Amino acid sequence: MLKRITIGGARRIAAAAVALAVVGGVTAVADAAAATDTAAALKDTAPFAVGAAIDQREVSGAVGDLVAAQFDQVTAENHMKPDAWYDANRVLRMHSQAAAIVDFAKNRGLEIYGHTLVWHAQTPKWFFQNSSGEALTTSQSDQDLLRERMRSHIFGVARLLSERAGLFGDGNPVTAFDVVNEVISDGPESDGLRRSEWYRILGEGFIDQAFRYADEAFNGLYAEPGAERPVKLFINDYNTELASKRSRYIALVDRLRARGVPIDGVGHQFHVRLTVPVSAMADAIDAFTTRGVTQAVTELDVPTGTPVTSSLLDAQGTYYRDAFAVFHARASALRSVTVWGVTDSRSWRAADGAPLLFFDDLSAKPALRGALAAAPVPPVELDVATRCVAGRVVLTATVWNTGSATAAITVSTPFGSRALTIAPGGRAAHAFSTRAVSIPAGAAHGTGLDLLAPLEASYAGASCS
Ligand code: XIL
Repeated sequence: MLKRITIGGARRIAAAAVALAVVGGVTAVADAAAATDTAAALKDTAPFAVGAAIDQREVSGAVGDLVAAQFDQVTAENHMKPDAWYDANRVLRMHSQAAAIVDFAKNRGLEIYGHTLVWHAQTPKWFFQNSSGEALTTSQSDQDLLRERMRSHIFGVARLLSERAGLFGDGNPVTAFDVVNEVISDGPESDGLRRSEWYRILGEGFIDQAFRYADEAFNGLYAEPGAERPVKLFINDYNTELASKRSRYIALVDRLRARGVPIDGVGHQFHVRLTVPVSAMADAIDAFTTRGVTQAVTELDVPTGTPVTSSLLDAQGTYYRDAFAVFHARASALRSVTVWGVTDSRSWRAADGAPLLFFDDLSAKPALRGALAAAPVPPVELDVATRCVAGRVVLTATVWNTGSATAAITVSTPFGSRALTIAPGGRAAHAFSTRAVSIPAGAAHGTGLDLLAPLEASYAGASCS
């Protein structure tokens, strides 16, 4: 139960009560316009890196500021895919959008989770053709040609990125890369692998080869000497929340590791929907925790279905909360969690209904509140003091971090909210002006205000002179 707080006094309230005041609940966002200022930074609530897929539209202006404030890392939604690295004359160069993303990340202190080096989609057709435009065969010379194209592509990408932003491990924002994407079959092929052009021409060994080239380029030739594997190398796939697909994924990862392939991590895209139980994502992560790899959620999105209604948006908030609770409970297994976009109408799944964390006007959705609310409440204590300043009641909240890790919390009051990041053993304070001599009784507020509700009741009708 909450302690009652009286005006003019100061009370320290223990962590259990503070839990109700920090971060806020899913239902606290009825007023979307107010939500942006009340939202804490998602990146400050998670022990794993939190990322977003972006393109050039998200690197400047208010949305650029939002990305930098909310996220630790970014992924190019399209412009580091194989076909983005070539002009119409098949000449390798960095796409202007990739350059914009690299510069943005470097300038704003964000990391880059790269996506993707080898894929069956968004890859130039000529990769798989000879100089006459005919499909490559499985002859030795055609296999050599395709392997050489893969090698020069991967080394070329590493070279261009390092030329733009420094050697890996020495200021280059790229710290991870999806080396191969979507190589697992959707049906029960004998070896569980997708029948792509890569596979048809080179067989399963193309996957080993891609990791070996990526390791040589990103962690060798273009790495800062002495840096310890500065770019973590990932395999990535979708539907890993389905047991059948997952078993094929596991089998491949086990084979790669048995062959000594330099793979660091396993990615789960998690393009899910409200009907997918979050326990399926937990199962997907749990299946890999004993396999000597780190993991990442690489492309999370959760469309509501259409038409989008406020009750569906609330259900989506609950879903994001429960999904992030799954991730928090598995934080030691996760390097990062990336959401596949920032604002709803920019999503590749927009037609399925508002899949992301932010409305198009950049205000926070119940989905963001949900993701924030999933964070374990840090051990903090709170003092609340009030005083009169020029006829207005000023409420000062002081929060002590009594834990051993940095605490990121939001203090919510009837007069506004404030996100605070507090070092272990430290404290932070914020003064809220009530902007009114008396507080209207019964003023609307959400669940994040529970702690201060008794205070508000005490205020009702009070004057300050
Ligand atoms: C999607 C992009 O979001 C779209 O803009 C593009 O038209 C197609 O690709 N799995 C992946 C991502 O690995 O690269 C895909 O991104 C979504 C599915």
